[in-house]
Amino acid sequence: MSGHGDPIPMTSRKGGPLKGTAVIPGDKSVSHRSFILGALSVGETKITGLLEGQDVLDTGKAMAAFGAEVTRTGEQAWSVHGVGVGGFAEPEDVIDCGNAGTGVRLIMGAMATSPITATFTGDASLRSRPMGRITEPLALFGAKSVGRTKGMLPLTMVGAADPVPVRYTSPHASAQIKSAVLLAGLNAPGETVLIEREATRDHSERMLRGFGAQVETMKTAAGFEITLQGQPELVAQTIAVPRDPSSAAFPVCAALIVEGSEVVLPNIGLNPTRAGLFDTLVEMGADIAFENRREEGGEPVADLRVKASSLSGVEVPPSRAPSMIDEYPILSVVASFAKGKTVMRGVAELRVKECDRIDAMVVGLRAMGVTVEDGPDYMIVHGREGDVEGGGTAKTHLDHRIAMSFLCMGLATKKPVSVDDGGAIVTSFPIFNDLMGNLGAQISRDNH
Ligand code: S3P
Repeated sequence: MSGHGDPIPMTSRKGGPLKGTAVIPGDKSVSHRSFILGALSVGETKITGLLEGQDVLDTGKAMAAFGAEVTRTGEQAWSVHGVGVGGFAEPEDVIDCGNAGTGVRLIMGAMATSPITATFTGDASLRSRPMGRITEPLALFGAKSVGRTKGMLPLTMVGAADPVPVRYTSPHASAQIKSAVLLAGLNAPGETVLIEREATRDHSERMLRGFGAQVETMKTAAGFEITLQGQPELVAQTIAVPRDPSSAAFPVCAALIVEGSEVVLPNIGLNPTRAGLFDTLVEMGADIAFENRREEGGEPVADLRVKASSLSGVEVPPSRAPSMIDEYPILSVVASFAKGKTVMRGVAELRVKECDRIDAMVVGLRAMGVTVEDGPDYMIVHGREGDVEGGGTAKTHLDHRIAMSFLCMGLATKKPVSVDDGGAIVTSFPIFNDLMGNLGAQISRDNH
């Protein structure tokens, strides 16, 4: 669990260019789902390339608490003996999902239609995040839950003994809501339908199909209608987890802003529901080559070759937000080094991530000498054409992506950039420091 230890202050500073090959860990979204779908299927699911970050490990522990056999068989290699749809046992103790919104929300969905009770908690960040957006649709299946004010964790959920299928229109562009509803629908009879106005990441749909569920996506006037046939027998799979584009974003963006850099990142997942950042960077003038485009494990991948570039500010289309929602913090750093302003609208969801990411970036960027405007659902960064002061300390609020964004920033600012606590980085990118160090980045823990 992150956020339970002492803060880890860190500092990054300008050095030489970033050079070399960065082998990025497995995709966080796919890794969570591999454990959960493995636990809900019959037989042994074998996973390679799993992200062994704390968020995913907490989900693995949770699956064991619900009765699955979860075993590490090698480096990033795991085996899950599942209990089948409807086969979850009641956990004997509280399920602690640490920092992981995806973990807790998907697991609530997965248990909501089984006649068992479970209590969920997490670290200070997760305990402050809204869960009503998940418990409301799950109540339609017949699940009951009691949490703190606004449904926040700790929260106890009593799964439905006689679940009914649900037709639900998601009020937010959220793959976590969509996935929780689809996972709950697995143990309800008949068709469960989830409607979303904008397409969010579709790993759950792809993987459910891979495990043998019948899932159809239809484009309609209302957006996208996803229909799942309930009570399938999910069959164990062999999964090669693609490398995480959201983690790749950090070395990619660092290489763009550090003069003279050239970095290669093999095998990066480029699922179109995840790759919006790369489209935006190319529009800004980034020199990124997508080499050896191919398909691996049902997901499009390519090797990325990134060279330091002169960038110009752009207006990011709000319709692109779901496909790059986790990348706005690092984009706002890149935008600080661009020429002209970068306008990011339609990003209200950033306010309910591991922290309020608009607020965290605005306050931190200003401390580094950057002019930023913001509102309830937008952020505008006034680029300084490479001339960024730095010299401040950013507060990370137990948020891994805020920490990594500012540490990348300090590699190109005039003065070093510090973060008050890099402890949360282990949740999604445990090898961040070593990987960046191997490229030549100067990032260190303070007092060392
Ligand atoms: C995720 C969905 C996104 C994203 C998170 C991972 C997922 O959250 O921010 O990091 O794996 O489904 P929302 O669904 O709340 O947008």
